[in-house]
Amino acid sequence: MEMKDHPIGIFDSGLGGLTVFKAVRRMLPDENLIYFGDTARVPYGTKSRAAVISFSKEISSYLLLRKVKMLVVACNTASSLALGEIRGLTDIPVIGVIKPSAQAALDITPHNGRILVIGTAATVSSGAYSSALLSVRKDVKVTEQACPLFVPLVEEGWTGKKITADVAEEYLSRYRGGKVNTLILGCTHYPLIEKTVAGVMGQEVNIVNSARAAALAVKAELSARGLLSDSGKKGRDSFIVSDAPERFSELARRLLKIHADSVSVKRF
Ligand code: DGL
Repeated sequence: MEMKDHPIGIFDSGLGGLTVFKAVRRMLPDENLIYFGDTARVPYGTKSRAAVISFSKEISSYLLLRKVKMLVVACNTASSLALGEIRGLTDIPVIGVIKPSAQAALDITPHNGRILVIGTAATVSSGAYSSALLSVRKDVKVTEQACPLFVPLVEEGWTGKKITADVAEEYLSRYRGGKVNTLILGCTHYPLIEKTVAGVMGQEVNIVNSARAAALAVKAELSARGLLSDSGKKGRDSFIVSDAPERFSELARRLLKIHADSVSVKRF
């Protein structure tokens, strides 16, 4: 089998990375995709750097055995803490979500503009977004805000509820009123509450959805390396989790309208 025909491996700490999966699937309908959700160990956002690196290496090694042609680290926390270590495992392209989202934000932020990054506690304390943004442009001012309650609210399916809007108001209202130009949704789950966040921030703030930015980067990298599938056939989806496949299927259907009816389990 030619390398082009190999699948793309996408992994996340759980189901949130399905926002990236969905964006990749929409952009690259011919590719075979393997999605791995580490549902046994989610959340990563409250774990130590050492734990996130060890889990990410374990999953990446497993996907490499499945002969993926590219690894997509859909999880912002794993992308912030473990990308270098994952790249050390392989020569195939490894795409994280931080750099593409940072670039997408810089593309729409004016000179001397202000960027707010929201993410898990681990992503924010790593400073990965600030480094990625400031290494490209020194004129912007970056602030990072952890929003740890958003992940459980999304997983509960409470995306459209008042309580989620109230929590968003609590975390974000202090940045309203011209204090930021651009906001990066720096967590897999946050695209699912994009409207709520936009409602708090107001129309003048541009919002960067990291799932879409990552999917664009995946397509660009595959194309640059001549690795885009040219099978002309609709790609296959495979879903693997480390625990509770029924819950994964149920939430995938309810939150993202993804029909992951057959989900296999790989325990570490
Ligand atoms: N996938 C994580 C991220 O994007 C959010 C969930 C978690 O904490 O594991 O940072």
